[in-house]
Amino acid sequence: MKNTYFDLINQTYYFPQAGFALTDDHLLFNGIDIMDIIAKYGSPLRIFYLPKIGAQIQKAKELFNNSIEKLSYNGKYYYCFCTKSSHFSFVLDEVLKNKVHLELSSAFDVDLVRKLHARGSISKEQFMVCNGYKPKEYTDKLIGLMKDGYKNVLPVLDNMDELDAYTTADVDVNLGIRIAAEEEPNFEFYTSRLGIRYSDIHNFYLEKIKPNPHLKLRMLHFFINKGIQDTVYYWSELSKVLGVYCELRKVNPELTMLNLGGGFPIQYSLDFNYDYEYMIEEVVRQIQHRCKDEGVPTPDLFTEFGNFTVGESGVLVFKVLGEKLQNDQERWYMINNSLMTTMPDIYGIQQKFIILPINHWFRPFQRVNIGGLSCDGSDYYNSEVSQNQINLPVFDKKESLYVGFFHTGAYQESLSGYGGTKHCLIPSPKVLLINRDEVGNLTTQVFREEQQAAEMLQILGY
Ligand SMILES: Cc1ncc(COP(=O)(O)O)c(C=O)c1O
Repeated sequence: MKNTYFDLINQTYYFPQAGFALTDDHLLFNGIDIMDIIAKYGSPLRIFYLPKIGAQIQKAKELFNNSIEKLSYNGKYYYCFCTKSSHFSFVLDEVLKNKVHLELSSAFDVDLVRKLHARGSISKEQFMVCNGYKPKEYTDKLIGLMKDGYKNVLPVLDNMDELDAYTTADVDVNLGIRIAAEEEPNFEFYTSRLGIRYSDIHNFYLEKIKPNPHLKLRMLHFFINKGIQDTVYYWSELSKVLGVYCELRKVNPELTMLNLGGGFPIQYSLDFNYDYEYMIEEVVRQIQHRCKDEGVPTPDLFTEFGNFTVGESGVLVFKVLGEKLQNDQERWYMINNSLMTTMPDIYGIQQKFIILPINHWFRPFQRVNIGGLSCDGSDYYNSEVSQNQINLPVFDKKESLYVGFFHTGAYQESLSGYGGTKHCLIPSPKVLLINRDEVGNLTTQVFREEQQAAEMLQILGY
């Protein structure tokens, strides 16, 4: 009987597959032999494979532009990167090589923009789509950008009161409006707390924006929490948004941009099967049809993908320190960091990531739970997207076993406060950047060493 870990994967999924393959008995991730990396840099380790970021951006740009061309859609596509998904300088450097625009979420994001401009990474022509419920510090900083000649700063109004900040500003302002989407039927709230209600938008524009010669409404924005999915819910929300767009476009020729938000899915399991091409083409087609029916010009299309841009570039690697059998059934692999603090999404939103052993693929497997080093009951991981359990190769004290959590490149560091204080004082892992040179050879660079006790204690006032 075949019962090695490799057999399990081979019989359950298509394997090898894009991004994942084996060399001998251990894993290659995008052609990287992770065991080699561990041998050189140790673990725990947070890896970013930077070429994946550009590849994702190019993929989306190509798919949108192909659909635009195929359908003879009259409008352009603009890719914005949602900075909150990862603010690291090495991520922004990689993103901005691909001629994209930015989506901002807070006052400090404006400081980031100024820093990027000072480094020569962005120009004052790039779009800055500015979302969020905005305190005065944020709107003041946005107005500061506009006064300093950033030509395409677009505050997206989250609520009607926000407009006051711009009516009194001594500068012309291009605006967007975020439509408050209806949440999925099984969600706790009926309407998103973010944005302005569908029914209020038309009159708000006519009464408050149109009469003011310094204000132009240029963009309509919507974002569905659950992402761009082929569901009745998504298509019905898109249809409502298009209704608002067409109605407004008839009275406002300056409204030329439609922002589809973020939420483009990424691979969270080895049987991930999302048809990007179909979805994009269908979105573009629906917009085109509706505009034609209503006799209005089609808008330029914006997206602000965060997770899609950076998620699949990230990996977290841990060593299994030991095994514990707590009763007949419950077997634990204890790893050398905390799951809660390195991947807060796993307990915050019950996110599942791809988990695979790095080595020992030809050993028999067993069902396990993975335990983090903190004493918190929630510091564990024990199920995958398609299976309510986790299987890993059997553990042998004499030969180290390593596991990787894949596609963890977005949000995890921001949510866990990278480098700050940590639950049970468990340090932020070393961060390693992997790239390829002009001839395709791998290059590595330590971005930051593992957090040291003194750094954390200093934050705590010692
Ligand atoms: C307004 C807005 N745009 C874009 C995004 C990015 O979403 P994702 O990372 O799912 O692409 C978010 C995420 O919260 C958001 O709030």
